[in-house]
Amino acid sequence: MKYKIAVIGLGYVGLPLAAAFSKKYTVLGYDNDSARVRELKSGIDRIDQFSKADLIQLHNFLNFSDNPESLSDYNTYIITVPTPVTPSKKPDLSFLMNASKTVGRYLKKGDTVIYESTVYPGCTEEDCVPVLEKTSGLKFNTDFFCGYSPERINPGDKINTLTQIKKVISGSTPKVTEKVDALYLSIIKAGTYKAPSIKVAEAAKAIENAQRDLNISFVNELALIFDRMQIDTHDVLEAAATKWNFLPFKPGLVGGHCISVDPYFLTHKAIELGYTPEVILSGRNVNNSIPQFVAAKVVDLMRQKEIYNKDAKALILGITFKENFNDIRNSKVPEIYKALEAEGLEVEVYDPLADPELVKKEYGISLTKAPRKYEAVILAVAHQVFLENGVRKYKNSNGAVLYDIKSSLDREVIDGRL
Ligand SMILES: NC(=O)c1ccc[n+]([C@@H]2O[C@H](COP(=O)([O-])OP(=O)(O)OC[C@H]3O[C@@H](n4cnc5c(N)ncnc54)[C@H](O)[C@@H]3O)[C@@H](O)[C@H]2O)c1
Repeated sequence: MKYKIAVIGLGYVGLPLAAAFSKKYTVLGYDNDSARVRELKSGIDRIDQFSKADLIQLHNFLNFSDNPESLSDYNTYIITVPTPVTPSKKPDLSFLMNASKTVGRYLKKGDTVIYESTVYPGCTEEDCVPVLEKTSGLKFNTDFFCGYSPERINPGDKINTLTQIKKVISGSTPKVTEKVDALYLSIIKAGTYKAPSIKVAEAAKAIENAQRDLNISFVNELALIFDRMQIDTHDVLEAAATKWNFLPFKPGLVGGHCISVDPYFLTHKAIELGYTPEVILSGRNVNNSIPQFVAAKVVDLMRQKEIYNKDAKALILGITFKENFNDIRNSKVPEIYKALEAEGLEVEVYDPLADPELVKKEYGISLTKAPRKYEAVILAVAHQVFLENGVRKYKNSNGAVLYDIKSSLDREVIDGRL
């Protein structure tokens, strides 16, 4: 069979995937954000995954469209749309449902729909398939088939790229599993892993991120405990790490659209099935409490130094959710910002990697272009540019507090770290 692939959703996941498949197959990149499609056609990738030259080169092989009708020429649909949570931490499936409706309208007999978005176990077959069936009028596993292959990329990571990461795949029938496997094997150099069912593949993705979230929550809780004991958490971790099976996690802010979101998909489904997870939700709660802890700690250190007053100013360095990258989704820095403001401080944020307009739109914070001197400086994101250019220069000469959330600075120059 000749694969004609349409990738639906050209974001962090969809664009590199469409690019990789376009080296071998006829591929359409479809996105319902017309501005995104216009930009991609003119060589602009607002999320900085591709350079202008690479994108223009790519456009020779890969068609971009915001017109759903162009989907009718394809037989394999790969859905890579966002799956965020609502403000009350419930899965927001609206993007997934809309994309399924769109694909359903163009689905033909023999077509395959593969989902890559992160979901809870059962979502593909219980939530998406009924939408595909309803909009297409076709019957699942008779007229059309499904696959699920979770994405594991870590945007910004130049080593573990799409084709270098083993890919879990699954299909709605044994024959489809083989077909989906052959398709991905043709581009994934690291190989594939055939999960026994779609549900297993969905669950595997959910627990990869939940496990990381929990491991970090454990060391974050240790940081809260050791602060009260007045011992440095990193000293303890370093000592414990001399044991062969101690896992090397560091405390920190857990933001972003994966680790801080995906566990809620799992807990949502568990609660729906009558079990309220205790461990997973406790871990989430601990991680969610860290911004408040950091803000209180900084104010405490300022009080100790007697520099806490109503005119005091604080600078937070970094707002992206990880270093050397521009993604600001679910950043925890705005929570530190608000908590410090509530303490009466005048707070500024400096991040040369983040898009100021997006930060303003998302969080209502105007990024500082030229930082001055402050009574408190908080390194929240260890961008290389901060480490290379130094951060001490932002300290006021009155013995300002320097707090290191990332434990990236020399011990001697800081007043505290998480
Ligand atoms: N970014 C990552 O590092 C990463 C890693 C692994 C898994 N994931 C998962 O992959 C999925 C996609 O994440 P992302 O980071 O690529 O999202 P993104 O926000 O970067 O991109 C999603 C794209 O989908 C488009 N879109 C939304 N609804 C659409 C629709 N109905 N039709 C067509 N296009 C539509 C948006 O305009 C956007 O361009 C999510 O489920 C996410 O959890 C992301």
